[in-house]
Amino acid sequence: MTTIDMPGLRRQAVSVTRKMAASLPGLRQMAEEKGLKIHHLGAGYPHPEVTDPRGFLTHQQAYFEHLAGNEGLNDADAVPEYLRESYSYTDTLGPRSVRETFARAYGNDWRIQLDADRMVPTVGATGGINLVCSMFERPGTPVAYITDAPTYAGFLARSALCHHARVFSVEMDDEGPLVDVFVSQIRAAREAGYEVPLYYTVPDGHNPAGFSFSQSRREQILAAARAERILIVEDAPYVYINYTSGAQRTRPFFAMAPEQTVHLFTGSKIGFPGPRVGFLYSEAKLAIAGGVEVDLTEFAVTEASADMLFQNPAALYGFEALLHRPGEEGGFAERGTFWELAEGKLAVYREMRQIMLEGLERGLGAWPEHFGWTHPDAGFFTVFTFRDGSVRTDEAFTNDLVTNYGVVAIPMYDFYPEDARDRDANAGFDQLRLSFCFSESAGEDRRRDLTEAVDAFCAAVREMFELTRE
Ligand SMILES: Cc1ncc(COP(=O)(O)O)c(C=O)c1O
Repeated sequence: MTTIDMPGLRRQAVSVTRKMAASLPGLRQMAEEKGLKIHHLGAGYPHPEVTDPRGFLTHQQAYFEHLAGNEGLNDADAVPEYLRESYSYTDTLGPRSVRETFARAYGNDWRIQLDADRMVPTVGATGGINLVCSMFERPGTPVAYITDAPTYAGFLARSALCHHARVFSVEMDDEGPLVDVFVSQIRAAREAGYEVPLYYTVPDGHNPAGFSFSQSRREQILAAARAERILIVEDAPYVYINYTSGAQRTRPFFAMAPEQTVHLFTGSKIGFPGPRVGFLYSEAKLAIAGGVEVDLTEFAVTEASADMLFQNPAALYGFEALLHRPGEEGGFAERGTFWELAEGKLAVYREMRQIMLEGLERGLGAWPEHFGWTHPDAGFFTVFTFRDGSVRTDEAFTNDLVTNYGVVAIPMYDFYPEDARDRDANAGFDQLRLSFCFSESAGEDRRRDLTEAVDAFCAAVREMFELTRE
């Protein structure tokens, strides 16, 4: 056996969500041996009821036949364009029609003119995070990322891959990141010798923080980012999993300032995760070596072409199909909006959110001095806080929740970047992330399962605190 000497490599950290997934079968068995039902409040997956691919595949097939029909091919052996391109090497930007259809619908929804030539396909939002980090890590010089405390585990995992990247995090209140800390962290990073290209965040339906930033905090953060000359990388999986009405809806950063933002769209929540469709969009410019000014898009395309060459074109055409509905007189019409698609998902998620919030209120609302939870305007999660400092939501705690009560929930501490835990060793140890997006059942059974899950969680907490209801 040969062992390769790689002393430059460091041991990689394993996230708490991955550890939880690995230990779950054992914990589950222990719970089941006690006759406990397993309650899912941990998984952040789209609900199976709104991601059944069968209806989509029928729709996609009809749309593809429509595309082929439109070409009016005389030769029966001729391969239609969508099919030829779906299985060929394509440009890194992928089929133009997909980007144009996307740009019209997304631009229409957020009241901004989008340039289809700036839409860089990515492998989901995960691919977008990777692309933007890679671009700024390429020179090999120390680079600092500003992000929230807590922040998305996938961003922490990606930034940890780079040995010369360091995270500087910013605590939040219930409106978003604290602006003075945001500015002081950028400056601290610069003073420590880091270039600071970006602030990574999830302003709508924050994962894991379980809330959306207020409009005024967005404006303050944007003004600070402008003044400090850093980009806002806006990860936006939940902009359409949105529980507010049009008038109250906050604006994503890219719609307020496309020249200051790198927006990461993903099809995973509004469509399906499997096809891994995503787009990076930015109108930012970068001042690079030699005093030259370049479009960020140009950099991103070069990086993407060397990285994945091109995204799966068949998946992109499938996404174009999603953005069309069957026309009234045959054929297909462009939807021109994502809200129509969102509504199909929201019918389920809205209900699930309500079951979660009502269940918490019913089970634990009598003790606001002990417990609190977020009321998310978007996304899949609420964050539950134990207010009196009497419990520590570490791994042992969440393991006990599974084995003694059958309840799967995710501890929050691991979502806090290292520097946040250095500032406060207890950061996140009083919180749990509860997700209301997933169950293994559909329809009435889904409602019942989530109701039982929240009730089981509340009963477990009451038992731990020896609280009894009147
Ligand atoms: C904030 C955030 N970013 C990115 C992702 C991953 O998205 P994708 O499936 O598009 O890679 C998720 C998924 O849960 C997420 O919550």
